[in-house]
Amino acid sequence: MPAHPNPIRIEPVDIAGRYRHIRPQPQQPNFAARIEGVDLTQPIGPEVRRELQQALLDFEVLFFPPQPLTPEQHVALAAVFGELAPGAFFPRKDGHPFVEVIEFDEKRPPEINIWHSDLTWLPQPPNGTVIQITELPAQGGNTAWASLSKAFAALSPGLQAYLEGLTATHTWEISGWRQALEKYAGLQGVADALRKYPPVSRPVVQVHPESGRKVLFVNENFTRHIDGVHFREGRGLLEFLREWIVQPEFVYQHKWAPHGIAVWDNRSTQHYALTDYWPHRRVTQRVTFNAFGTAPATQTTRAAVVDEATATA
Ligand SMILES: [Fe+2]
Repeated sequence: MPAHPNPIRIEPVDIAGRYRHIRPQPQQPNFAARIEGVDLTQPIGPEVRRELQQALLDFEVLFFPPQPLTPEQHVALAAVFGELAPGAFFPRKDGHPFVEVIEFDEKRPPEINIWHSDLTWLPQPPNGTVIQITELPAQGGNTAWASLSKAFAALSPGLQAYLEGLTATHTWEISGWRQALEKYAGLQGVADALRKYPPVSRPVVQVHPESGRKVLFVNENFTRHIDGVHFREGRGLLEFLREWIVQPEFVYQHKWAPHGIAVWDNRSTQHYALTDYWPHRRVTQRVTFNAFGTAPATQTTRAAVVDEATATA
């Protein structure tokens, strides 16, 4: 087999020159950095905030040493990176409507082992998410992230140019949410939710507004079709891109410790939560954030659909 004709040229981020207060340790070239030396139980000063924001742009996923966070500290960490966002359809922590609790155990088998960026069916998907693993199975339960900027950079120029002219339609209808919502709220609930959250069309290649990197922004969970091409062509293209994005060169798989913390940039990564631990228990709490300048969330996505539908069912 011939050698790969277009490996990615990596210019490592100048960590010593760029960072004075934190020292990111990338786990792969310019990707998935561990951050030591920040006490997340204390207020974070402006210089450290700036460097953490820069690190998220540079490395796309950040990990902090395990430390239990209160819901307030968790929300405060998300606020380092953006405005509080409504999140998805997961249940909420009591008294903390913006802290989603994702709980899997014997009765609730894990089901998010599918590659995706979060909520790409919204007109403006969230910028990112901070998660903490609060309960971890004895073995397994890793999370993997894929770099969408690396995946784009490694494509041949001809295919890059072709993809840059395309848009794709994203919808939660093709994800597990549809079945879950039908269970909660019936077909009427699904129809109501579709009116609230209809499919959206977005470019297949997006330019990250802050880093300037081009990213491949289609995913297996929510991207239904490529617009304006025959469905077989689109289906083949999406399948190729799905396979391309998750090549090991672009993927970092993280082994958690209890109370491990991660932040990801939802605009430049996809993630996949492994389900190899069932029937054991794994609990994650997460807080989602939007761009600075976005109006802070006043209602959760769940409240807009699930709570409302079940209240009137
Ligand atoms: Fe997700």
